[in-house]
Amino acid sequence: MSSSTPAAVPPGTPGAVPASSARGLTKTYGSGAAAVRALDGVDVDFAAGAFTAIMGPSGSGKSTLMHLLAGLDLATSGSVRLGETELTALDDDALTHLRRDRIGFVFQSFNLLPMFTAEQNITLPLELAGTRVDREWLDLLTVTLGLTGRLTHRPSELSGGQQQRVAIARALVTRPDVVFADEPTGNLDSRSGAEVLSFLRRSVRELGRTVIMVTHDPTAAAYADRVVLLADGRIAGDIAEPTPESVLAGLEALRTLEAPIADGVNA
Ligand SMILES: Nc1ncnc2c1ncn2[C@@H]1O[C@H](COP(=O)(O)OP(=O)(O)O)[C@@H](O)[C@H]1O
Ligand SMILES: [Mg+2]
Repeated sequence: MSSSTPAAVPPGTPGAVPASSARGLTKTYGSGAAAVRALDGVDVDFAAGAFTAIMGPSGSGKSTLMHLLAGLDLATSGSVRLGETELTALDDDALTHLRRDRIGFVFQSFNLLPMFTAEQNITLPLELAGTRVDREWLDLLTVTLGLTGRLTHRPSELSGGQQQRVAIARALVTRPDVVFADEPTGNLDSRSGAEVLSFLRRSVRELGRTVIMVTHDPTAAAYADRVVLLADGRIAGDIAEPTPESVLAGLEALRTLEAPIADGVNA
């Protein structure tokens, strides 16, 4: 999967190994009366070479699911795979290596090092892994993410949108199997947010990467190829080729589904 060219297998091809998947995934925080079941038997596949958004109400388990898929936290039960690798079978060291070598992260706060230039921030993961910089790949990332002419700038000399694009380039520089993004536009105005989302989509369409993004914004989710809906720690919907309207309708359906149960009446 680690290639600079688009995936040979179109996203969602039957029989293809998903880039990331979960089976019977359950996560409980705390114990006894204080126990919170954040995920409750989640089965989900994320196709390689696709851009998927995870949505759902606050507290529905989005961040927990992303953390488990990315090997940042351990499941209570069930299984998590990255490609063919079963994460629940790995020890701490192996998980650390897997995160470093095969996963990219983009956070709401850009997490750039202020004293480093954009280029030094982008190549930092290679530096840390002791891997040579592939100049051709770096150039392709720079062009695709619209960072030409910005590489010698420090974060303070860049706009928020440009800083987040540097963070995306940093997440992609190791050619990870999957990039996980948690609310990547949460700190951006709507125009820079739209820019960042279209660059994320380009990195999937043009560079063949796989992106899984958590967001609460239907407009942001509509940039994805697919939206997976979570409610109460369970998969509650799946929207192909989402539009802001279809995503809003999907979220609205979750509310009306929950209301009669909560009220004990049929609305
Ligand atoms: N570290 C934690 N300790 C206890 N409860 C937690 C912890 N993290 C999340 N939760 C609970 O798990 C549920 C799901 O949380 P989370 O995955 O953060 O949801 P989302 O990202 O959709 O808002 C919520 O009820 C939340 O309060
Ligand atoms: Mg969250």
